Amino acid sequence: MTAISLALDPGLAIEAAPAPSAEAPFEVHELFFSRTDAAGIIQAGNDVFQRVSAYEWDELIGKPHKIVRHPDTPRAVFWLLWDTIRQGRPIGAYVKNRAKDGRHYWVFAIVTPVDGGYLSVRLKPTSPLLAVVKQEYAALAAAERAEGIAPPAAAAALLLRLGELGFADYPSFMSAALGQEIAARDKALGRQPDATGAMFEALSATAQSLLRQSEIIASAFASYANVPFNFRVLAAQLGREGAAISIISGNYGALSAEMQRVLARFVAAAQDVFRTINDGFFLLGTARMQRELRCFFAEEESEGDAGQSREREMALLDAQQRAYRAKALDGLREISRTAVDFEATCVEMNRLAAGLEVTRVMGKVECARHTHARDRMDELLGDLETFQRTIAAALKEIDTMNRDIQSRADGLLIGAAA
Ligand SMILES: Cc1cc2nc3c(=O)[nH]c(=O)nc-3n(C[C@H](O)[C@H](O)[C@H](O)COP(=O)(O)O)c2cc1C
Repeated sequence: MTAISLALDPGLAIEAAPAPSAEAPFEVHELFFSRTDAAGIIQAGNDVFQRVSAYEWDELIGKPHKIVRHPDTPRAVFWLLWDTIRQGRPIGAYVKNRAKDGRHYWVFAIVTPVDGGYLSVRLKPTSPLLAVVKQEYAALAAAERAEGIAPPAAAAALLLRLGELGFADYPSFMSAALGQEIAARDKALGRQPDATGAMFEALSATAQSLLRQSEIIASAFASYANVPFNFRVLAAQLGREGAAISIISGNYGALSAEMQRVLARFVAAAQDVFRTINDGFFLLGTARMQRELRCFFAEEESEGDAGQSREREMALLDAQQRAYRAKALDGLREISRTAVDFEATCVEMNRLAAGLEVTRVMGKVECARHTHARDRMDELLGDLETFQRTIAAALKEIDTMNRDIQSRADGLLIGAAA
């Protein structure tokens, strides 16, 4: 079937059904929502949702949301969606839907838990990321069909692909995607760019470097883990003469074991900073789109809504956007808090690094006394020096970046609270 109008007889024009490949139109400024119960059964929505889906209200209300399911959206996406919202957390996802007349439409959906079910707020995706997502979804949906991959395994494959595309995890992908969609939408609507987006990009880039530096420290530890052992071997070879070296290597070993323990907390704290930045930004974007939807819905001319009460939906949207605004502000405060926590583990790391330095200097003094083992000791002390330099340089970088994160997060908070 094609979307052309067949004029078989000049007086008889037959409107052919739209081609399945055709897009169900909706404008960039239009926002739509639907609300479901806990099982995904549609309870309410707005006019754009009903119009774009091409169903009548009585065909939508009380029906499972999969009524608009398009087979091109991988099952992995819905598995992730349900897995997240059932845990009471919000999620953002690109979804390709199918209208009753076979036409399709892409949305970026923000689904949040709401009293008795879930709320999905959707905007038209227009950022360059959509082209990437289309390609990824096509490949994944084809693999799901051909290989019969179970949804959890397909979701793992999607996360792996996102990793290859530079997104550490799904939350960092969805928050970057929401940011890009809001920016593209603002631009298409001729609005001033939202300063928050640029702030977030800077914050996120800094947090990524911070994570990289913490990984450098972790791998420096891994590659120099045998240094205290090598010292002990040398001390044993030197016999009684090596007693002082044995003590030094013992000190070194104890300090580096402690550092190893701190390191686990340190890396986790760095990941926390990264996580809270993504969460804070996603919540901020969610709150903004919910607020816009609330205004859009208030101005929408309703044409029969299958008995749903506009006042009740309006009140619900209002409460939801207020709740998410509060969550967003909390999220921004959380960034500062995790950055402060991270700073505390940096202080601890610095203290231990200074301890290692003292031990190394003692080793150097001892080295001067052992003329016959000097070469071997020099080599070991040289290793220690490289190791300590790597750590000191990474800690210094981290300190600067962490301060930068704290001040930007505080700036965002002041801007958002205004
Ligand atoms: C609030 C909410 C909104 C949803 N919106 C859509 C949607 O727009 N399109 C869709 O296919 N599924 C949507 N779903 C997911 C469906 O419930 C369902 O999981 C999905 O269509 C996959 O169906 P299937 O597992 O039967 O293939 C939504 C779920 C919730 C809770």
